[in-house]
Amino acid sequence: MAAVNMRGIVKDFGPVRTLFGIDLDIADGEFVVFVGPSGCGKSTLLRTIAGLEDISAGELKIGGVRVNELPPVKRGISMVFQSYALYPHMSVFENLAFGLKLAGKSKAEYTPAVEQVAKVLQIEALLQRRPKDLSGGQRQRVAIGRSIVQRPGVFLFDEPLSNLDAALRVQMRIEIARLRRELQTTMIYVTHDQVEAMTLADRIVVLRAGRIEQVGTPNELYHQPANQFVAGFLGSPSMNFLTGTLAALDGQGATIALPDGQRLQVAVDASGASLGDAVTLGVRPEHITLCDAGNVLQAMAVTTEHLGDTSVLYLEASGAEVPIAARIPPLQQIVPWDRCSLCFDPKNGHLFRADGLSFRRLYPTIV
Ligand SMILES: Nc1ncnc2c1ncn2[C@@H]1O[C@H](COP(=O)(O)OP(=O)(O)O)[C@@H](O)[C@H]1O
Ligand SMILES: [Mg+2]
Repeated sequence: MAAVNMRGIVKDFGPVRTLFGIDLDIADGEFVVFVGPSGCGKSTLLRTIAGLEDISAGELKIGGVRVNELPPVKRGISMVFQSYALYPHMSVFENLAFGLKLAGKSKAEYTPAVEQVAKVLQIEALLQRRPKDLSGGQRQRVAIGRSIVQRPGVFLFDEPLSNLDAALRVQMRIEIARLRRELQTTMIYVTHDQVEAMTLADRIVVLRAGRIEQVGTPNELYHQPANQFVAGFLGSPSMNFLTGTLAALDGQGATIALPDGQRLQVAVDASGASLGDAVTLGVRPEHITLCDAGNVLQAMAVTTEHLGDTSVLYLEASGAEVPIAARIPPLQQIVPWDRCSLCFDPKNGHLFRADGLSFRRLYPTIV
């Protein structure tokens, strides 16, 4: 087990800067997930921790020791990749034992270690099979097992479930959560799948273009996003954004005027702003209901997605660049181009400045 501390980590590929000074402390035993859009630097950051990429500037400590100059094998880490290259000519047992053999362990030493890991991952019955005789999920388990058997202080995962089909991904996500409870080892997990991030992480690190946008628990990020980017990145369907101007301010919060003159309330502290400022109102689909009293927004239905337990209604609304989404009860029949009245509680609203930063919410609901 080991903590990971990053100070001003910079990574340049030739003239191109990819990481712009990452400061992050990961506690011993913590499960931290890096999320962000493709190309934002998640893999590069993970690979600098692993020692697969040099660090251009800054300091990296693992277990309290500076490791900038140490090769991967001396860092006490183990990494699982998206493409789990198993040795095709070796059995599952041999694949699992390979690293320990290489490290000079005898058969008497590595056999119990391999068997124990196989048990944890429920692949005991597969030990004599070759990789080609395994399903995708079983192969990924072997790849994870190969990593666990080394007993590293820190596990690094780079999108380990991205190549699996949806059902298997859900199953493996549960497995990883269980594994984490059993091993109690520091884990750093990269994904672009925000559901994976929300369900697995103690803390999520949202990256964008080589910089950290926000670090926090899944609940903190969901309820108190620091800016519009984080607000839009976490949640599915994602938060709706309506641009308008600040029309009034009082103790209850702010009133926003949309381009067509409709007014909406949001319970935020906008005391630093001036009337007339351009702002963006944010509200999540799950916080919108169909009703015509209260904090009402008139919008025009475009289409409905029926998901079984709920439906998602898409509507054109003033100030919204793309149709907004509202989660509604499943049996609600809405015809396209119906005019709908939507409501949301001002306490559930978010408000962003023109530069994207969030105004402080007056009722930040932390579950
Ligand atoms: N070996 C490399 N040489 C040059 N540029 C690279 C190299 N590896 C990654 N990059 C660039 O660094 C940026 C971040 O890439 P990456 O860390 O793979 O993103 P992510 O994993 O978030 O999708 C991208 O613009 C990518 O093109
Ligand atoms: Mg990547």
